[in-house]
Amino acid sequence: MTSSRSKMPPPALLRAVDTVRNTLARVHRRLAPGPIALMELIGAGWLSQAIHAATVLGVADALADGPRSGAELARATGADEESLHRLLRLLISHGVFDRRSDGRYTLTPIADALRRDADVTLRDAALFFGSPIHRNHWSHLVDAVRTGRPVGTELEGMPFFEYVKTDRETGELFDRAMTSISTLGLEPLLAAYNFSAYRTIVDVGAGEGALLTEILSRTPQSSGILFDMPEVVAEAPARLAELGLADRCAVAAGSFFENVPAGGDAYILKHIIHDWSDEQAKQILRAVHTAMPQHAKLLLIELVVPEDKRPHPGKLIDLEMLVNAGGRERTESEYRAFLAEAGFTLQRRVPTLSPDNVLEASPS
Ligand SMILES: C[S@@+](CC[C@H](N)C(=O)[O-])C[C@H]1O[C@@H](n2cnc3c(N)ncnc32)[C@H](O)[C@@H]1O
Repeated sequence: MTSSRSKMPPPALLRAVDTVRNTLARVHRRLAPGPIALMELIGAGWLSQAIHAATVLGVADALADGPRSGAELARATGADEESLHRLLRLLISHGVFDRRSDGRYTLTPIADALRRDADVTLRDAALFFGSPIHRNHWSHLVDAVRTGRPVGTELEGMPFFEYVKTDRETGELFDRAMTSISTLGLEPLLAAYNFSAYRTIVDVGAGEGALLTEILSRTPQSSGILFDMPEVVAEAPARLAELGLADRCAVAAGSFFENVPAGGDAYILKHIIHDWSDEQAKQILRAVHTAMPQHAKLLLIELVVPEDKRPHPGKLIDLEMLVNAGGRERTESEYRAFLAEAGFTLQRRVPTLSPDNVLEASPS
């Protein structure tokens, strides 16, 4: 974590880069003939699949110790040299990997994030989002748009979060992918929101606990309860012991549709509510409401979709929720209204440098 912290660019620079990038993209879309701009968008899925292929082959890890020739890299990754060259030629044109003047392949900052041991690694996210099951779901997006329902119930015979209990290989990859995405937004989140005000922090649907363990390691006076489904928290006690947090962090297993641990001062639900329909999400919030003392805070950590036409990751992830989970991303006014229906008052929205926001609410 420490090195990702020191590598965070200043907020003003990030905002300026984002504005320039959006403006250039808008100009490009206006100037390019419609069919050409469209073809570029159609091909975007191939690029992400090429990243998946390079990740499965372990190209980034094979370059961790320095540049390698095509023949060396093909041997190290078990690939056909000519085909690997074609794969990397595309990725290099998008800044993922590079080729030096002596012909050897090398990492770039983007490719480095595909390494297993990178400070902030997105390896598992690349593996999960390019995996056959995830691709299969997205190839049925049209069905989800027609029916308004996630496609896993038809394809696997059960909702996604039930399915991952039965296919633990996919389930564990999903958990690691969530952890890697969590890690990406961790530093901006901890810089924007002061969690040290809370003595007992319950992380509801904590996954592998990346957020809670990082909070606890920085706030020695706080203790935590890591809560998720039994299959997901099975390894948590060992991980907490390794991190020296076993005495300050309890592990609880169950379903947040039924009940969640009582007595916390803050209840974090990070990327939970967006997974579910309004009715299901309200059921989760009712369970939290029942468990929490009146003074406690509900902290939803979610993307908030802007109510304008700008590109925003929330608009993409909203479709991921539609196709896979049956949930949705929401605007700030939708959150405010939805929280009120569930018995909470939204008190403030704390934006972070990542697309995440902290929506702080109290029981009404
Ligand atoms: C999108 S992940 C978010 C994980 C974590 N909060 C993060 O931000 O990385 C959703 C989490 O909800 C958990 N979950 C799904 N259904 C659950 C249930 N019925 N009870 C408790 N946790 C559940 C999943 O196991 C998963 O860890």
